[in-house]
Amino acid sequence: MAQDKTASADESEKCSALNGQANDSNNRNQWQRPPPSATFELKDGEKPPLHTVINSYDFEVIASRTLSKKTWAFYSSAATDCITREANRTAFDRIWWRPRVLRNVGSVDTRSRILGHNVSMPLFIAPAGLAGLVHPDGEGAMAAACAEKGIVQCVSSNASMDITEIVPAAPHGQPFFFQLYVNVDRAKTEALLKKVKSVGVRAIFLTVDTPRPGKREADERVMNDESLSSGMSGSSAKNDKRGGGLGRSVGSFIDPSLSWDDLKWLRSLTDLPIILKGIQGAADARLAMEYGVQGIVVSNHGGRNLDTAPAPILVLLELQRCCPEIFDHMEVYVDSGIRRGTDILKCLCLGATAVGMGRHFLYALNYGQEGVEHLIDSKFSRNIKSVYICGLKCSTKRRVVLKDELETTMRTAGISDLSQVHPGMLNTLEVDHLIPTTIDHPYAKWRPDPYAKWRMDSNASWRPKPRI
Ligand SMILES: Cc1cc2nc3c(=O)[nH]c(=O)nc-3n(C[C@H](O)[C@H](O)[C@H](O)COP(=O)(O)O)c2cc1C
Repeated sequence: MAQDKTASADESEKCSALNGQANDSNNRNQWQRPPPSATFELKDGEKPPLHTVINSYDFEVIASRTLSKKTWAFYSSAATDCITREANRTAFDRIWWRPRVLRNVGSVDTRSRILGHNVSMPLFIAPAGLAGLVHPDGEGAMAAACAEKGIVQCVSSNASMDITEIVPAAPHGQPFFFQLYVNVDRAKTEALLKKVKSVGVRAIFLTVDTPRPGKREADERVMNDESLSSGMSGSSAKNDKRGGGLGRSVGSFIDPSLSWDDLKWLRSLTDLPIILKGIQGAADARLAMEYGVQGIVVSNHGGRNLDTAPAPILVLLELQRCCPEIFDHMEVYVDSGIRRGTDILKCLCLGATAVGMGRHFLYALNYGQEGVEHLIDSKFSRNIKSVYICGLKCSTKRRVVLKDELETTMRTAGISDLSQVHPGMLNTLEVDHLIPTTIDHPYAKWRPDPYAKWRMDSNASWRPKPRI
């Protein structure tokens, strides 16, 4: 943990030593002294001071030690063996930079636009249900933090608060997106769309990767408090013979019969931009373009639904290889596995407009609004007059976490403005062999037997499959 109370006498000695001036302290072998630690020490159930948190993983570790068992299980869990959740992250590590130097990166500009809205950086809060489990201010605190830091929140259909309570938590004019799960009772969806339009929501993110929530075993193993329900959908937590899956019980209203044909129905209900959230390959990305939606989110729901679904950064490469034309027709966003400024910039290099983060904003909400702001872009401006790291006084204007990481990545990769990103900034050779070259399978040409159902229906005796 950083030392807030470093003796001031020591301080001036260190400064002059750093400035290269010889003084008595140089002779006292002070450089051989072990430095004070800047790392927080975690005690179970105790949150270290926010200024000691320097990356998104810190928030995760702290959440794992301080959240209730159920909240941690619900937030952190993923489908079955959690292979996709891990691959979402590690796929980024297999893509390397091709940095450029001597590019005058004295000042860098992270500002961008999402669906025509100005943002301080190309990042949004991905919709994640039940933020109230980690902090009583829930999605309202996220809304206020987004307004303060100039980014956009996409509110979940399963938010713990109703959208009419969330929107007023931010100043008037702050843009919001709304994530839609279509209800089996379509009349409820129609009413909901009217409501979100009336509070000023600017886009509908229709989630298309969750006809049923995946089998999230960690979530199933911890029982629910059955008095809990989503303030937005009204859907409640239940326990049953399969376990206490919170995602499964609050998602029980989702209509699994939703299909491409329903996009026409949805379009007839709203004039807001429609974004399909959960596109996982070129075939569906191309269909989305043909159906005329305004955008897609390349996402596998943070690995929570179909285990061994591909990492989004690889899907982005697939889109570039198999259907590059889609990038000219709609905005492409990415979520699942984004943890670092380098991850954000890699997605932009491959054609994304912006990225979303789910779990880590929930983990940051452990510290309320201030935690969410800290994860986006904290200037150490609140409550802390001066900060000491390794005994050295740091400027109170020092930025931390995502915006700082993005700016540093831009500088060290050799760009000063996001309009300068391009695929040539990346070396993708290590993963190129994993990227499909065609929308279909490259050599397996087998197809299902179109008469199989007919033969079953008519009790016809078994015959070998015709080869087509
Ligand atoms: C606890 C939790 C709840 C979520 N709830 C929703 C939801 O209600 N609707 C939705 O479309 N996606 C939901 N998601 C998925 C996120 O929108 C996003 O796709 C995912 O978290 C991104 O991966 P990441 O957590 O690695 O950033 C949820 C994710 C988590 C972790």
